[in-house]
Amino acid sequence: MMPIGVQNAMDDNPLKLRQIHHIELLVGNARQAADFYRRSFGFSQFAYAGLETGQREMASYALRQGTSRLVLSTPLTPDHEASSHIARHGDGVRDIAFQVDDAERAFEEAVRRGAQPAVAPHEESDECGAVRRAAIHTYGDTLHSFISLHGYAGPFLPRFAERSVPGEDAGLLRIDHVVGNVELGKMNEWARWYTEVLGFKRYITFEDKDISTEYSALMSIVMSDNSFAIKFPINEPARGRRKSQIQEYLDYYGGPGVQHIALLSADITRTVTTLSNNGVPFLAVPESYYATLVDRVGRIDEAVDSIRGLGVLVDRDEEGYLLQLFTKPVQDRPTLFFEVIQRKGSRGFGKGNFRALFEAIEREQALRGNL
Ligand code: FE2
Repeated sequence: MMPIGVQNAMDDNPLKLRQIHHIELLVGNARQAADFYRRSFGFSQFAYAGLETGQREMASYALRQGTSRLVLSTPLTPDHEASSHIARHGDGVRDIAFQVDDAERAFEEAVRRGAQPAVAPHEESDECGAVRRAAIHTYGDTLHSFISLHGYAGPFLPRFAERSVPGEDAGLLRIDHVVGNVELGKMNEWARWYTEVLGFKRYITFEDKDISTEYSALMSIVMSDNSFAIKFPINEPARGRRKSQIQEYLDYYGGPGVQHIALLSADITRTVTTLSNNGVPFLAVPESYYATLVDRVGRIDEAVDSIRGLGVLVDRDEEGYLLQLFTKPVQDRPTLFFEVIQRKGSRGFGKGNFRALFEAIEREQALRGNL
């Protein structure tokens, strides 16, 4: 259940976006990827679609934790359109799907506002009912689907059957934000697209002087719906002495795409302990980061020793503070990674951590021979 205030605030969204319904990743082997997200991140598999359920061309595994849902999909034949997506991009996010009141209306309004159509409105049905779906293109080969449920009563979406494989919940509650990387000079264009097409507002802008290190730099704009329920930062590379981490992503992903998915935790100490025990590799920050932590962020509720032991980063702004930590890329290509974030009043993105974070990323880039 969303708080009533949030529900009301979203009524003024021009497309009647309600929430992120799910994020779909196209991967080379969805069966194994589903197992990875279950065992490593504590997602529970709850539904499956494939040959056995009447979905002839793709195998899809639906996982959830808190209110966040991930779908891992793999095409079953080499000439499927998704096979060329995987050949080009490797494993990555194909679709950030929104739940809307009326998929057809959202699609038509989005296209009227300048979106490029991807999938025309259509009905998908099975014995549990019918949903309406459509999709538009956003940056790169990434899509935004619109899904309206119309009381659909199945476990997930049509052609999915219940297939429960529980994971050990790690305390991840919901999707906090989803970050896209776009090419040099394209950030403002995409920020404008989110304003004009989805009715989002510019929430924060980070200039390269905020977030450049000795070598590499980036610029970022955070776009948000009016209720702050859906937040999409957009990064572009900035010129530095060496290759920007955003450029490294673009080179290996073969163009723009989703850089990271941030998942909200109510207890980051517990979540990161669980994930670390499960073998999730996190970026390491140097000991020196913690020497001046209390001077920089003031008193925090958490024990500094355990924060330091887990390598969690802390940042404070006028509204409060946040704790965050970033995984290393979750596939061989240095592309998609995850963030775990806990908010204690702050609605920011950890600007004060950018330097320490980017230096940690650059150490990894250097190890890959890409700095
Ligand atoms: Fe983030």
